[in-house]
Amino acid sequence: MPTQIQIDERTTVRQLVGRHPETRPVFEKYEIDYCCGGARSLADAAAGCNLQVADLVEVLAEAVETAATTAETPERDWYAAPLDELVEHIVSTHHSYVRTALPRLRSLISKVLNAHRESHGDMLTRVQAYVGALDSELSSHMMKEEQVLFPYIVALESYHREEAARPQAPFGTIRNPVRQMEHEHETAGNALTGLREVTGDYSLPDDACPTFETLYQELERFEGDLHQHIHLENNILFPRAIELESA
Ligand SMILES: [Fe+2]
Ligand SMILES: [Fe+2]
Repeated sequence: MPTQIQIDERTTVRQLVGRHPETRPVFEKYEIDYCCGGARSLADAAAGCNLQVADLVEVLAEAVETAATTAETPERDWYAAPLDELVEHIVSTHHSYVRTALPRLRSLISKVLNAHRESHGDMLTRVQAYVGALDSELSSHMMKEEQVLFPYIVALESYHREEAARPQAPFGTIRNPVRQMEHEHETAGNALTGLREVTGDYSLPDDACPTFETLYQELERFEGDLHQHIHLENNILFPRAIELESA
């Protein structure tokens, strides 16, 4: 179990989600961005959603407390795990999920659009456009991570373990590709926000069929997975790799 940290108004969203992944549902509930906006303090995050910071702190502390007493298999402490294991986890869990989920979402959306074009055509066409954009952007994004950035991070770690020579970076400092990846995460995050907006937070219309319902469930699942995926990269993998490079 990761060491507990002090939770108060100065604690950042990033610190908290990193040390206590069990606080993620709280941030999701209040729509507080913990992936790309993770550097904000709890005070700023609370102000952004019209909450009293004391109330937010209390709910978060409760989530941590509950997890500490009920957790059977605590989530891995990715701050301490070897980077090659974190990379392997991201690729085998999240990249592989994205690769199966997006084609499925594309096919679901075409079915729902065909059946409901008359009454919900405009909205569903926008959903389709967001899913299409996510599909093409994330495919090339993940390929860059898997072929360039992640192998460099793994090689850098081997060098620090004195198992291999220092790798040659084809991109100057690692901060360059990291900046690019973070920018692409932000674009994907904006598409998720756009999807929530056009679907009214995934509220189903009265005439929704079971496929419509499945589409919304799968989109919400996709959102949850992508948030966790981006969180692991932005808040843990990238900062640890930058630190290793400058060590
Ligand atoms: Fe990734
Ligand atoms: Fe990424």
